[in-house]
Amino acid sequence: MGNPAQIALDPAALRAEFPILAAPRPGGGALHYLDSAATSQKPQRVLHAMDAYYREANANVHRGVYHLAAEATDRFEAGRDAAARLVNHPREGTVFTKNATEAINLVAWAWGARELRAGDEIVLTMMEHHSNTVPWQLVAAMTGAVVRFCPVTPEGDLDMDALRGLIGPRTRMVAVVHVSNTLGTINPVGEIVDMAHAEGSLTLVDATQSVPHMPVDAAAIGSDVLVFTGHKMCGPTGIGVLAAVPGLLREMEPFLGGGEMISDVTTDGSTWNDIPWKFEAGTPPIAEAVGLGEAVRFLEDVGPERIRAHEQEMAHAMIDALDEVPGLTLYGSRDPQRRGASVSFALDGVHPHDIGQFLDSRGVCVRAGHHCTKPLMRALGVQSTARASAYLYTTMDDVLALRDSLVECRQWFGAA
Ligand code: ALA
Repeated sequence: MGNPAQIALDPAALRAEFPILAAPRPGGGALHYLDSAATSQKPQRVLHAMDAYYREANANVHRGVYHLAAEATDRFEAGRDAAARLVNHPREGTVFTKNATEAINLVAWAWGARELRAGDEIVLTMMEHHSNTVPWQLVAAMTGAVVRFCPVTPEGDLDMDALRGLIGPRTRMVAVVHVSNTLGTINPVGEIVDMAHAEGSLTLVDATQSVPHMPVDAAAIGSDVLVFTGHKMCGPTGIGVLAAVPGLLREMEPFLGGGEMISDVTTDGSTWNDIPWKFEAGTPPIAEAVGLGEAVRFLEDVGPERIRAHEQEMAHAMIDALDEVPGLTLYGSRDPQRRGASVSFALDGVHPHDIGQFLDSRGVCVRAGHHCTKPLMRALGVQSTARASAYLYTTMDDVLALRDSLVECRQWFGAA
């Protein structure tokens, strides 16, 4: 037997586990879902785990003394164990949020709004998603802190020399995306974290587009905070994860107040629950945590290394296929070793929204727009792009359907 990590995964067999991909498409033909960077499809076992929770174990968590409440709590907390294990992070530092956006806002408000002073610097990059830009702009406006942006090179990489120059003694936070949702660029986050720590800055890594697609070891990256979201990793919407260094969480004041996050409440004031619950006010997303736990077990069963290997192959195939389309411009690196499987492109003479609609008529789902990365769009000198993104269930059929429908699209719009 070889190392199972070296045995290629079988995307066609995996597709059968996803009801939406296995179902016949209205009007016939296959569904070529190439928008997993926006949200992934869900395997049957995740849907089943959530359904079973509601049918068998529905009760509020951490509150009831009865058996059903204990069962609900066990299933909920098992979701946390799984999320922590996937990224090699302690469970006490693993906080559930609504999504990755809320996880970043939690840090921006609970830490940034209290700790930042006028003239302090927050270093971001031009390829951040709006979720890792706008919260920092909001707290900077409130505190007088300054937001600085690391530029990207024409190849779509971070300009590391520029970044080195931006991080200095006034830097209090360096917040950087691991894998760009728009360009697919994989950033050297470990190196960036080391640079920031050498200047005494905190660090946040937005791992939303990496955790679903490759092995991610939060301890090895070493950032103070790492965030990701359930719905892009075969789990449900409505749940995200803040994986933060426990010491930081203990020092931080709460983000939201309410039930569950307290130790005591008097008319004079309140004290806080232990971490991670100190940051989980109100009834949490229980079924979603159960679904996320099952999604993690699914990804572990498939194998993050094998998922990464498959996506490298798909990225390579997509780039080759897009090269065959006349008049197509591809953004970002062409090297599958250095990129994830989100590929942005433009077609001469055809607006990205028209591409999206035409491809939809051929059963091909791609995203068109600014991808919540408007500063990056401006840096690239475009208003929008079309983007195809692959996942563990993407096949060569999907890639060829993308190519063929793009060739047809160009002809349809008279751009050929
Ligand atoms: N962040 C998601 C995307 O890139 C929605 O499409």
